Amino acid sequence: EVQSTPPVPSGAGLSPEHVAQQYIVPCMKFYGICVIDSFLGPRFGYKILEEVETLNHSGKFRGGQLVSQKSIPSMNIRGDQIAWVEGNEPGCENIGCLMAHIDEAIMRSAANGQLGNRVINGRTKAMVACYPGNGTGYVRHVDNPNSDGRCITCIYYLNKDWDVKVHGGLLQLYPEGRNVVANIEPSFDRLLIFWSDRRNPHEVKPAFATRYAITVWYFDAKERAEAKEKYRLATGQKGVQVPVTQSNRT
Ligand code: OGA
Ligand code: OGA
Ligand code: MN
Repeated sequence: EVQSTPPVPSGAGLSPEHVAQQYIVPCMKFYGICVIDSFLGPRFGYKILEEVETLNHSGKFRGGQLVSQKSIPSMNIRGDQIAWVEGNEPGCENIGCLMAHIDEAIMRSAANGQLGNRVINGRTKAMVACYPGNGTGYVRHVDNPNSDGRCITCIYYLNKDWDVKVHGGLLQLYPEGRNVVANIEPSFDRLLIFWSDRRNPHEVKPAFATRYAITVWYFDAKERAEAKEKYRLATGQKGVQVPVTQSNRT
């Protein structure tokens, strides 16, 4: 059974509060996935696209890294090139504005425990990603399988006139416990929001044209604090495991 995502509203023109309350909150509650089209409008979208193209053409992108499974050549898993952007770098002003808009949407949605009682206290920088169109994608994975603190994934797409039949690059989500596939086309000025944990395994099908997306992950305060503690234990002296002293009595 294949089901597309729920109908998508036009973000442009609706107030951020309206989009949060009427759309993001219920969508995340019932589907765990939310798509907002025309998030910023074409003028703004084009400015962001220009910045991303300039970053790419000036050689700022590097091969996507894999945190885990270092022995597997990463090209076999993900074929994107990425750049991390804080938003205040020269030439990244519009990307910074995009991040502020996504922040507003997420923080309004998460107010009063409306987003699964998650308390959002930060996010990553923006990961600007480019699949070069050589037929690479990103194999099926979960963004945060091991409680590293990230609870919400937001992806903003920048691809004008994208035709999945010609260009591939479809994002397929397989929501846990539901016999459905959500097919998300990486369309220009589209914002996708989903739970980062095991509820949403997903993959990027091979892309045959340059495919741009900007991703930010939001941290849940509690899960992040616990992850930091685990990380400290694992790397500081408390994390070094030595064998117990063996008794010589025989
Ligand atoms: C990984 C990885 C990317 C991500 O853990 O292997 O690359 O989604 N994760 O943060
Ligand atoms: C990722 C990812 C999806 C996309 O970078 O972790 O799943 O549509 N990207 O670009
Ligand atoms: Mn992912």
